[in-house]
Amino acid sequence: MKDILEELQNRRENARQGGGERRNDAQHAKGKLTARERIELLLDEGSFEEYDTFVAHRCTDFEMEKNRPYGDGVVTGWGTINGRMVYVFSQDFTVLGGSVGATHARKICKIMDMAMQNGAPIIGINDSGGARIQEGVDALAGYAEIFQRNILASGVVPQISLIMGPCAGGAVYSPAMTDFIFMVKDSSYMFVTGPDVVKTVTNEHVTAEELGGATTHTRKSSVADGAFTNDVEALAEVRRLVDFLPLNNREKPPVRPFFDDVDRLESSLDTLVPENPNSPYDMKELITKLADEGDFYEIQEEFARNIITGFVRLEGQTVGVVANQPMVLAGCLDIDSARKAARFVRFCDAFEIPLLTLVDVPGFLPGTAQEYDGVIKHGAKLLFAYGEATVPKVTVITRKAYGGAYVVMACKTMRGDINYAWPTAEIAVMGSKGATEILYRSELGDAEKIAARTAEYEDRFANPFVAAERGFIDEVIQPHSTRKRVARAFAMLRGKKRSNPWKKHDNIPL
Ligand code: HXC
Repeated sequence: MKDILEELQNRRENARQGGGERRNDAQHAKGKLTARERIELLLDEGSFEEYDTFVAHRCTDFEMEKNRPYGDGVVTGWGTINGRMVYVFSQDFTVLGGSVGATHARKICKIMDMAMQNGAPIIGINDSGGARIQEGVDALAGYAEIFQRNILASGVVPQISLIMGPCAGGAVYSPAMTDFIFMVKDSSYMFVTGPDVVKTVTNEHVTAEELGGATTHTRKSSVADGAFTNDVEALAEVRRLVDFLPLNNREKPPVRPFFDDVDRLESSLDTLVPENPNSPYDMKELITKLADEGDFYEIQEEFARNIITGFVRLEGQTVGVVANQPMVLAGCLDIDSARKAARFVRFCDAFEIPLLTLVDVPGFLPGTAQEYDGVIKHGAKLLFAYGEATVPKVTVITRKAYGGAYVVMACKTMRGDINYAWPTAEIAVMGSKGATEILYRSELGDAEKIAARTAEYEDRFANPFVAAERGFIDEVIQPHSTRKRVARAFAMLRGKKRSNPWKKHDNIPL
């Protein structure tokens, strides 16, 4: 008996070595942690329950039968993050380059199936040379099995991808179909075709970092939702994100203890909007002053900064925030911001996270670039996402809410539940200057007359009261009381039940 116990221990020890000391050192030398070290930091101490530790591939091509490492290059199992269950797979680059063969894929699929059955998020740590070359089409079939599960799990359990090394070729499409992708600066990259192929085909000379590093994907392509300086920070931030999310689409997000007065008044908000309607101000100040303990988890911070998306808590409950940012492009909507916010709104709606929309939007960004690239279709994504959302929706207009952009940003008649405006709100078809130039074109030569017309238009429309008279605004509120009013609105909406007509699925303008 003792021998058998010892053998188990020895085998476990062998599996835990991964690719051995030399390869583990090489991993560390690149500034990367090993697959198991990452899991240890991601999960609560001692909570990891590993499966398939001794699984090995059965490939016999290229003399692979002589190299059958335990675990086959991926560590899988479940554990907890602040006491709540998550499933995790962590590719081990030190074992066969973390490459994906049939067995490796089967291990990932096994825990994805468990996550779906038992209703818990899937966190994938990617660090892999891609399809295992020796396994040929078996490797590709394995990827397809993973992709299919990513698709079926979408909207059922949250899926989070960490890219902590190479992720290239078709392999990128598994993370691409998950809800959030986080990368590590300087040690991770994602691309469909690498720098060498790019050079051959297009004659562009580009490094792996430039082509698919964290900065590229958080600033240019928007493939990734966040970039962190090292593995430790990335894993800690994923723990923080998981705390905001429900375990699955049948459960509500967790309610966390809060130590912030829900009736807290913020007198500084009364002067947040500048006197000059063309002066910017930082919408993040409003978000952090609204949130429990000022805690805001921003998603896609570096991309389309004219719109802000992320999570806060109000009375301990998760709320998704979408807010125009007057500091960037005057907060106007454009293709990138519409796409960014639409995806966020749909995530929140899929997982029953209520939506708070903070509006200061002068309209859509004009120009041929926007029109040629399809701002009509991309803008419609956000409109569609808000319109189909059935979660509680609370909107606060702080200043400008003009034209189509007013409608898109969760207005009352797009099933907004509670629509507030600050006294500084200006709700109209367009700004006063543009409006008078169209309405009084014949008087354009007379500066005095135009100034009087503009003043008249401002008096009439540059306020929240016309909309409030019609019930399009439920109440004009004092800026300092915004936290209290918004928190009470969400509390009132906690029992909200609303559903859309039956359909196989909708046809959102993609
Ligand atoms: C088998 C692989 C491998 C792979 C790496 N290794 N990638 N083994 N299949 N795809 C092995 C190496 O042989 C090596 O083994 C070990 O992993 C570490 O690799 P190195 O090359 O020494 O590491 P490094 O210099 O850091 O380079 C990493 C790398 C490079 C850039 C990822 O290994 C590489 O280019 N790999 C091939 C990438 C690729 O073309 N993959 C297929 C993509 S297409 P030893 O024993 O020496 O330690 C794809 C299609 C998916 O993935 C389709 C889905 C639909």
